[in-house]
Amino acid sequence: MTNKSHVQKVDVAILGAGAAGMMCAIEAGKRGRRVVLLDHAERVGKKILISGGGRCNFTNIHCRAENFLSENPHFAKSALARFTPSDIIALVEKHGIRYHEKTLGQLFCDRSAHDIIAMLERECAEASVRTVVGANIISVNRSEQFQVHTADTVFQSESVVVATGGLSIPKMGATGLGYTLAEQFGLRIVECRPGLVPLVLNAKDREQWCDLAGVSAEVVAEAGARSQRGSFREKMLVTHRGLSGPAILQASSYWHPSESVSLDLAPDVHVMAPLLLRNARRDTAAAINAIRTVLPARMAERWISIYPPDDWTNASLTMMEQQLHAWHLTPAGTEGYAKAEVTVGGVDTTELDAKTMQSRKVAGLYFIGEIVDVTGWLGGYNFQWAWASGVSAGLSA
Ligand code: FDA
Repeated sequence: MTNKSHVQKVDVAILGAGAAGMMCAIEAGKRGRRVVLLDHAERVGKKILISGGGRCNFTNIHCRAENFLSENPHFAKSALARFTPSDIIALVEKHGIRYHEKTLGQLFCDRSAHDIIAMLERECAEASVRTVVGANIISVNRSEQFQVHTADTVFQSESVVVATGGLSIPKMGATGLGYTLAEQFGLRIVECRPGLVPLVLNAKDREQWCDLAGVSAEVVAEAGARSQRGSFREKMLVTHRGLSGPAILQASSYWHPSESVSLDLAPDVHVMAPLLLRNARRDTAAAINAIRTVLPARMAERWISIYPPDDWTNASLTMMEQQLHAWHLTPAGTEGYAKAEVTVGGVDTTELDAKTMQSRKVAGLYFIGEIVDVTGWLGGYNFQWAWASGVSAGLSA
């Protein structure tokens, strides 16, 4: 502590004023706890602002534990049951925020993600939460109580809630502080990697496909080891360096370096059926026409030039059919944290109590939101986890 530092006593110090931290602050404040909410950014909730293309996909009405990756797939159940999509919808409606379902149960603000921030700020004010932005957190120690040191203040608290988020989008303020604190207090961390992130193809595949950047198709993308394998039927987009689009982003969370990704480019369609009809033409033009029913013309033409059949026998057509339904690519990597929507991995859930998010080893220390090894699918699931884990901790801290 420097001479200039002054000490402030609070009940709960929350590190990180993102979705999880703000929700936790509201719940703890409503219980009469003296809460300080600290963030190093110049304003709260910066990731909320850029989320969902500026409209914040704040929940998913179909949210279940099955929509999350974790070493312990059951961990999220308790928090998700305590604070459900209906609860966040009720809060959004209480604040008169108009919203709509876009697709697959995804709820977005009609107007802007600013509405969600304003809602959280108003709730924080009503719960007497003190928010400090521009707070440079230097260290966190624990003796009888916790001491959170910032440049000019030491916050002495009974509880510390770490809500500093994941590593994705460093330019929006993501840091590794929460992981460092977890390690400092002896908590295990499940290795982190970027998730919901575009995949970069290897040099050969890039050369063959990436000049088609902008082309998209509905596919089933599958990735991951057998124990945790994800399969998603959505749009795929060819980019200048690889593949993106919702199907690929979803599968990327399950993908590990050097593994392949499997793509069904024609889900539920027997593409070559027209060529198998009696008296049907069997040549390149007929095959391209057939493939064009499932892929854009340029991609269909490219497909045939890269995978031309040996001949036009039934066996060759069957082989072509199979190839279209099981295209295996081994990406060179991902676009990394700079482009990832989330961080997969994080604080090991075996270290935490599933009802309260409190550390089993260190009384009064909590971890919530994206920093925990619970990662949602694309589509509002990550915010639902942030709200739910924030509420769980806020009811206990
Ligand atoms: P979050 O990252 O929101 O907050 C962490 C806070 O901690 C930040 O305010 C940060 O400044 C602060 N912090 C970090 N280090 C600190 C330090 N050293 N000192 C002090 N403060 C520190 N999800 C979803 O469900 N629907 C969606 O529409 C989207 N869209 C989306 C778009 C984009 C571009 C991205 C990158 C991500 C999404 N997500 C999403 C994911 C979602 O944004 C994410 O999972 C949640 O914001 C996680 O909430 P947290 O509160 O855990 O972390």
